[in-house]
Amino acid sequence: MIAIGCDHGGFELKNKIIAYFKENNIPCKDFGIAVCESVDYPDIAYPVAKSVAAGECEKGILICGTGIGMSMAANKVKGIRAAVCTDHFSARYTRLHNDANILCLGGRVLGDAFALELVDLFLNTPFEGGRHQNRVDKIHAIEKADR
Ligand code: RB5
Repeated sequence: MIAIGCDHGGFELKNKIIAYFKENNIPCKDFGIAVCESVDYPDIAYPVAKSVAAGECEKGILICGTGIGMSMAANKVKGIRAAVCTDHFSARYTRLHNDANILCLGGRVLGDAFALELVDLFLNTPFEGGRHQNRVDKIHAIEKADR
């Protein structure tokens, strides 16, 4: 199950991604927004990030104008590794090396077809593990050290 959410800057792209998920039988849980009205992106980032951190959803996708605010908010939740991606290389390597569990996209930055390619890479690229696991563990050690 993929958690997905957006603010008003990502509303149209979120609908495109959900349509793509439906066409491809990819189950998703939509955390809103349901109508395009101005909202504060942390109010959407938080429940999406919690659902991924709790294991209710295996990965998440958050979309705002740039993807940046969503990533900042989502990364405050323990266990979350949210990555803003604007290119194929980053979308691939944030899975291979960072084991990113949330992809953040900019609805005002990316074209729809391009964004769908990044979604595909994010969903279908495995984590490499090995030396990268140690580095990911160190990310989460910061959460414990910085209480
Ligand atoms: C909303 O205008 C905009 O600030 C938001 O969508 C996002 O880009 C923030 O990072």
